[in-house]
Amino acid sequence: MSTRFLSRIRAEYAQLAQASLLRRHPTIDQRTGVSYRLNGHQVTGFCSNDYLGYAAEAAPPIAEAVPLGAGAARLISGNSRELRELERDLAHLAGAPDALYFTSGYQANIGCLPAVLQTGDLAYSDHLNHASLIDGLRLSAATIERLPHLHAPPRTPSPASQTGLTWWVLESTYSMDGDSPRPEDLQRHHHDGADTYLDEAHSLGRYARGRGWAAHHTLQPTLTIGTLGKACGAVGAFAAGREEVIDHLRRRARTAIYTTAPSPTLIRLLRRHLPRVAGPDGDRRRAKLRANIQQLSHELGITTDSPLFPLLIGANHTALEISAELLQRGFHVQPIRPPTVPPGTARLRLTVTAAHSHQQIASLAKTVRELLAQRALPLRSAAGHHA
Ligand SMILES: Cc1ncc(COP(=O)(O)O)c(C=O)c1O
Repeated sequence: MSTRFLSRIRAEYAQLAQASLLRRHPTIDQRTGVSYRLNGHQVTGFCSNDYLGYAAEAAPPIAEAVPLGAGAARLISGNSRELRELERDLAHLAGAPDALYFTSGYQANIGCLPAVLQTGDLAYSDHLNHASLIDGLRLSAATIERLPHLHAPPRTPSPASQTGLTWWVLESTYSMDGDSPRPEDLQRHHHDGADTYLDEAHSLGRYARGRGWAAHHTLQPTLTIGTLGKACGAVGAFAAGREEVIDHLRRRARTAIYTTAPSPTLIRLLRRHLPRVAGPDGDRRRAKLRANIQQLSHELGITTDSPLFPLLIGANHTALEISAELLQRGFHVQPIRPPTVPPGTARLRLTVTAAHSHQQIASLAKTVRELLAQRALPLRSAAGHHA
């Protein structure tokens, strides 16, 4: 290794440390539900995306012998009937005609966006879109225009220089603010003959029958991305839409083509698990999640119906300090800092799940209030603060 490379990464390390922007993997073990040990502290976690509380539970048993690996990419010899059946289940979950499986939401976005956007297309991208959407857009040939958060694309005719389609690339529940677009804006956009690319990562599984926000509002985006690592509590993702659109992705989405097909063991587990998410077990958890959201919303005085509570702190080092104090008091809440959120809007992002008890939520809210009051910081949501 060259000494110049070492000095480069050391200089970057020093810069990040100076700005309170260093990131480290927390070491977690002995997990039972929302309780675990974190770097030696016994904590209750309030920062997962396991909204229905499935992730920490035992996987459904599989008695039969299922192969570990697929052995090849799908277009070679890694495809299987069961993977196709899983895709039909996923399409059903999303309320769409067909679906294509991806190993993660990140892979789905960086594969699908370049596959559907072409030269001459104009893509309006929400200011708070997730990194995977931003990276997917960068890999595409479209012209990108950033929209202020939650603003709809302009309805005026596109510039004469634009020869292609007009897309709106957005999320149905924003991962850092917990808010959602207005369904009527999407309806109008579709009515004007434009296309929508909707990422449902934080919505899928939270609505009736395990569906997402779009199905709940009877909207039909051109393409919907669902992830299985959040409310579904597993891992993986899919793109859902009309058969021809999904078929186009099979031929064009490079992250689904040039990669080994998913493990048959994982496919079997997902096929056994998804009916729980869509059925009465999921309904009970959705009801408990709603009750927990209401409780935290009430205790913090923040009105929301999403499980994400972003508390605005501002300075990076203050967000780090409060998070460290929460850890001392038995709560794991990650500070979210730039570049994940805009500079000056560092926040504590609390997430509540169906697995939290009334007592755990009450105790978290009381501790957060105390820690903010000690610093004379107001308790306010970061949603809408985009410095
Ligand atoms: C909006 C959004 N899209 C995509 C992803 C990536 O999904 P995955 O974790 O399955 O890669 C995330 C993850 O946080 C997300 O918040």
